Amino acid sequence: MTQHKVWKNVLAALALAALLQPALPARAAVEQRDVTHSQPLPMGRSAAADQTADHSAEQKPVVNQFLLEGEGAPASETVRKELPTYTAADKAAEKELEQLNRAYAKEQLQAQRAKIKARKEAEKRRDEARDARQTYPLDFDAARFQKRSLQVKGQPIVFRAYEGLVYTAKPYAADYERLNVYIPEAYFKGGSVHGYTAATAPIFLPNEVGDYLPGQAGTPSETSRHGGANAILRALSRGCVVVAPAIRGRTLQDKDGRYIGKAPALIVDYKAAVRYIRYNRGKGLLPAGNPERILAAGTSAGGALASLLGATGNAPDYEEDLRDIGAARERDDVFAVQAYCPITNLDHADMAYEWMFHGVPLTVEQRPGGTPAEQTNRAVRNGAETEAPAAGDPAAQDSLRKSFATYLNDLALKDDSGNLLNLSEDGEGLFKEYLQGKYVEAAQQALDNGIDLGNQAWLTISGGRVIYADLGLYARTVKRIKGTPAFDAFDLGTGENQEFGSPVTDKRHFTWYSLQQSGALPLPKQAEEKAEDERFALAWRRAEGQPRERLVLRKAQIAREKAQEALPLAQYLADSKTIRMLNPMDYIGTPDSTVAPHWRIRHGVRDRDTSLAIPALLALRLQNAGVRTDFRAVWGYGHDGDYDLDQLFDWMDAAVQEADQAEADGATKRTVEQEYLMDWVYPDDGTRKQQQ
Ligand code: DHB
Repeated sequence: MTQHKVWKNVLAALALAALLQPALPARAAVEQRDVTHSQPLPMGRSAAADQTADHSAEQKPVVNQFLLEGEGAPASETVRKELPTYTAADKAAEKELEQLNRAYAKEQLQAQRAKIKARKEAEKRRDEARDARQTYPLDFDAARFQKRSLQVKGQPIVFRAYEGLVYTAKPYAADYERLNVYIPEAYFKGGSVHGYTAATAPIFLPNEVGDYLPGQAGTPSETSRHGGANAILRALSRGCVVVAPAIRGRTLQDKDGRYIGKAPALIVDYKAAVRYIRYNRGKGLLPAGNPERILAAGTSAGGALASLLGATGNAPDYEEDLRDIGAARERDDVFAVQAYCPITNLDHADMAYEWMFHGVPLTVEQRPGGTPAEQTNRAVRNGAETEAPAAGDPAAQDSLRKSFATYLNDLALKDDSGNLLNLSEDGEGLFKEYLQGKYVEAAQQALDNGIDLGNQAWLTISGGRVIYADLGLYARTVKRIKGTPAFDAFDLGTGENQEFGSPVTDKRHFTWYSLQQSGALPLPKQAEEKAEDERFALAWRRAEGQPRERLVLRKAQIAREKAQEALPLAQYLADSKTIRMLNPMDYIGTPDSTVAPHWRIRHGVRDRDTSLAIPALLALRLQNAGVRTDFRAVWGYGHDGDYDLDQLFDWMDAAVQEADQAEADGATKRTVEQEYLMDWVYPDDGTRKQQQ
């Protein structure tokens, strides 16, 4: 089940409790509905308290509304029911119930107040800690550079290198919250590169985050794992200004042992880098690059990060954290995103993984040590692979697999023709066909390029056309490299568990399902909880007019609520806001963010680090929100990126041209929206500058 669903149930239970509360005390509520008592009773005074004579002597028939609703009798019918004998003990119980409710309401109010107070104190401590950290200047110093020259395809690329610039005023980790800037030398002489000038050059913003670990600031290189110049040097050769930030990650600790790189640190840093660019370009300190043409790029966790940046432009959720690190007060929306195999949508990735790989043998890299999840979650790339006997508990696989259909159907995604991409509970449907189509497309391209696909049993090829991709057979062919659940492990053994830690807790869950299954806390299973709620509602209804019964019930209910509230949830489960702040899906198509208007998403056909469903959901969500999205599975690659840099920069050129044309045509709607959002996020305090 989705976490969303679980919370919906929790909320429903709370709503039910809230609904029941005003109905108390029971006797008064019943008598208010008594057709013979048309006068409402004064608030807070029970009917019984007004009775001086023996109550049983004047029994009156009442309309039992609960009975009417609960048993489904037609509303027109008036059902009359005799109340049971009302004794002194009943009166006492009624009074006690009333007192109990008052006391509990007061207790809850006090708890609420205490929480607010604690939050304010925490904020104050955070501010003090921030003030105590060293301050770094945000101003870019254009005079401090090195001139360098490297070659791309035999041609010299001359550029200025500005390295190690701290991009935020109050960093937690100044050795990570720093960036490198590279600018083609031609721009300092009024020249142009690949048709761009100092003013129009797109800004390439690559991150080197992998595995949610701290990411280094990238540097240009003539060699890369795919041969030839790396993405940064290629970007320079294509006329880009490059800004390559280092980024905090899940393992970082400060000198006191507090964790300083847990979610949402990575996205807060990336946003701060964008703001640093706008700030310094706006002040005229950064000598080149168009801040309205920023292309964010990354692979895997870095692809997830680039996607997150593109999806959450200027979203208010991040404001507090940006302020905490002293980010420049600027916009942080970007123009375009290149995401290679994004390991994203982590709170639903377990479901997607089981939908694709349930029942498939697990391939593990044989390395000693670690927890079972650490063993099974180590990505197998180049190492020797051996098949493990079982991938995990079949019941968990089945449960997660089924939840995927529910989650997907809730998203209501559509293909280009407007068809709903749904799945039935058994995992079949148009969404599956959509993914098959992605693999067919990739295979067709390979075939067209002369690659022999004869040994690919999962593909059906006829007359030079790839006509079918069997997803079940595909999964068995590529095998799975992660256990169940793939991301939120019951034993907290994955990198993602560590990513969702807190300043004081290294590893936490980020799905309700895994928290429940882990057994770390005595949480009732969702089904049990629902059954319990239903049992209570029924018992409550049946006990109408029986204050002693209701007193017992209410006491049990309060005890249950208190037990739940007393659980140290925050030690085991990341809070819902942090989980949201790491999921681009939660921002696309909402009014809370400025989404990048151009996206390119690539996922290797052999990739088993996450299900193809995950980038597909992202792409469809974007397309459905009217965002230009180029999404493909790529033949010949597994979990990888930067393998098609020429096409990437061709795509960037086309996107820039299109946007420049739209701007020249006066399509300014987006700008108006941005300004509106900015006024909301930053009430003008006089520090904001106009973009040039
Ligand atoms: C990466 C790979 C994973 O399998 C994962 O779960 C998280 C990140 C990566 O390569 O960045």
